[in-house]
Amino acid sequence: PGGLSDSPGLGEPLKAPAGCARRLQQALLRSFWAPMLSSWVTGAAAGIVFLHLVQKFLFPYFWLDLNYLLKVVIHGLTLESYRLRGKIFTVLDRFVKEAERQPRKPFILYEGNVHTYQDVDRRSNRVAHVLLQEGALKKGDTVALLMSNEPDFIHVWFGAVKLGCVVAFLNINIHAKSLLHCISSCEPKMLVVGADMVGTLKEILPSLQKDIDVWVMTKDCTLPNVKTLLDKLEAASEDGVPVNLRSVNNLKSSVLYIFTSGTTGLPKAAVITHLQVLKGAAGLWAFGATANDIIYITLPLYHSSASLLGIGGCIVLEGATIVLRKKFSASQFWSDCKKYNVTVIQHIGEICRYLCNQPVKEGEKDHKVRMAIGNGLRSDVWQEFLVRFGDLKMCEFYAATEGNICFMNHCGKIGSVGRTNFFYELFFPFDLIKYDIQKDELIRNKHGWCEKVKKGEAGLLISKVNVKNPFFGYTGSKIHTEKKLLHEVFKKGDLYFNTGDLMVQDKENFLYFWDRIGDTYRWKGENVSTTEVSDVIGMLDFIQDANVYGVPVPGHEGNVGMVSVVLKPNRSLDLKQMYEQVVMYLPGYACPIFLRLQEIMEVTGTFKQQKFKLVSEGFNPSSITDQLYFLDRSKKSYVPLTKELYEKIFSGQLKL
Ligand SMILES: *[C@@H]1O[C@H](CO)[C@@H](O)[C@H](O)[C@H]1NC(C)=O
Ligand SMILES: *[C@@H]1O[C@H](CO)[C@@H](O)[C@H](O)[C@H]1NC(C)=O
Ligand SMILES: *[C@@H]1O[C@H](CO)[C@@H](O)[C@H](O)[C@H]1NC(C)=O
Repeated sequence: PGGLSDSPGLGEPLKAPAGCARRLQQALLRSFWAPMLSSWVTGAAAGIVFLHLVQKFLFPYFWLDLNYLLKVVIHGLTLESYRLRGKIFTVLDRFVKEAERQPRKPFILYEGNVHTYQDVDRRSNRVAHVLLQEGALKKGDTVALLMSNEPDFIHVWFGAVKLGCVVAFLNINIHAKSLLHCISSCEPKMLVVGADMVGTLKEILPSLQKDIDVWVMTKDCTLPNVKTLLDKLEAASEDGVPVNLRSVNNLKSSVLYIFTSGTTGLPKAAVITHLQVLKGAAGLWAFGATANDIIYITLPLYHSSASLLGIGGCIVLEGATIVLRKKFSASQFWSDCKKYNVTVIQHIGEICRYLCNQPVKEGEKDHKVRMAIGNGLRSDVWQEFLVRFGDLKMCEFYAATEGNICFMNHCGKIGSVGRTNFFYELFFPFDLIKYDIQKDELIRNKHGWCEKVKKGEAGLLISKVNVKNPFFGYTGSKIHTEKKLLHEVFKKGDLYFNTGDLMVQDKENFLYFWDRIGDTYRWKGENVSTTEVSDVIGMLDFIQDANVYGVPVPGHEGNVGMVSVVLKPNRSLDLKQMYEQVVMYLPGYACPIFLRLQEIMEVTGTFKQQKFKLVSEGFNPSSITDQLYFLDRSKKSYVPLTKELYEKIFSGQLKL
């Protein structure tokens, strides 16, 4: 098969150039006939050295690939054994086991306090007892969690899962209508709110469905019909909760809902099953982390990276330690790492860029961090990061929360998200197919089939959906789930998950992220859904049409939000009201920074809003004749985007 010859490391000795092979043969022959044992040894040694050199120059990634593949196989076999035995050993089961095996081992370090495995186990038992008695939760009920990074996030999460509940992680940056939408989309029996999120709760409480049991992490609360959890925890038992409450026999039963705004519209709750938790939690191990590692997490726990890869990953390493921070801080980052002897950091590309943008300090390489695991790191920042902070192993990966495909760059090749080969594709079948970026649609040939791109060309990443690689979709309306699927791609009846990401595979089978398509763009580590933003802007009574997209700005990861609007006839643009609307209804990262006023809205041949042209025109007031504006937080309004302002942004003098 074609894939076989592409896969380095396979037919390795066969591929040695003929001349070399002859020399090898002669060496072996010579050693065979030599009378003395020593020449046998020399011959064999020469052979080994020779093979080693062949491997090194022709198949430099052979051992790395093999090592990685073995891990994939071992993990696959473990999951298979669960399936065969009809009883799965979940990540939470492993946590409870670690708490018994090494109760005093620190699990979470947070704001100077140590929470051992036993501490976390016991406190989550307390949560479970309270929720069981006072909340009357049953297996399969959903508990929505609105909390920032703190140990109690983990206690409530584990406590609810100990009762067999599904936990929905709410994004703490979301407010008002969007938050209500998120909550109702996962139909929770209960909502647990962190002490610092009570303000957000107040905004939505009057409109919240009355049948949701609302709890806050405080000792008292004056809000109507809201119960307090903190006081009850103190009185509750810390004894273990019966195992049968949480036991599961199906890898495909759901355990979490994690919100993504991967495609269109408001955020959607991706259904996370035990299978995905187990896969995600294997990431740190597959990259070579061990139980002795100390992992620094500053990413929000409500995303899958921090929760599944980070917390889950720490547990399955047989008891590593997490240093948790409420919020990422560029100035505190390395001092925290030094203080806590951190060995592994988790990042998104933006974090590395912020760190590189910090003023240079003395002794920056003087830390114990040996690995950095994350995604979205661009080559330039990657290189700078290594020069600046020392030679650590950068472990880049690609995975969609709801997706069924992942790549891991286990070779440290700069800029790449991962690597594939023939065997890997047996586990994770995927393809890169032709896509028309201008028209924003798939290219199908005259027979109606999609076509694969050649190596080196950008194509849309799609992954096959089958029994081994299922796609669990989103809660609520089937429409959202259906929209992420592609039917009849290469033949009748086939089914693929559309990642919405364009990728390039090079000759050496490294994969590189190229761009996102469709209705989202990335900014400050979050997906921004363009339809969500344009819905909010469209609510203004002077707006006829709003088209939202992301534009690249030098010196920034991701794309900066921009909206192009058309006004209703005889209405004028109220810049102040516009500002208030976006700030009120959208999370900070989703507020469009640039505003363009157009006479008419252009559409594509298929009547979709024309985004490609607008993106390529960018936001330069010298080349665009339409009026341009800039979101100015200090003036609390959109203000005209002058040439001076543009220069400042373009040169990086003004940070966005
Ligand atoms: C970090 O490591 C040093 C030396 O190994 C040790 O003395 C120190 O106590 C450690 N710090 C913490 C917070 O564990
Ligand atoms: C962004 O979108 C992708 C693709 O749909 C999704 O898998 C991923 O989890 C999203 N990331 C965040 C931070 O929501
Ligand atoms: C807009 O104003 C013009 C002149 O002031 C008027 O003729 C026209 O009917 C108005 N259009 C609408 C839709 O109100």
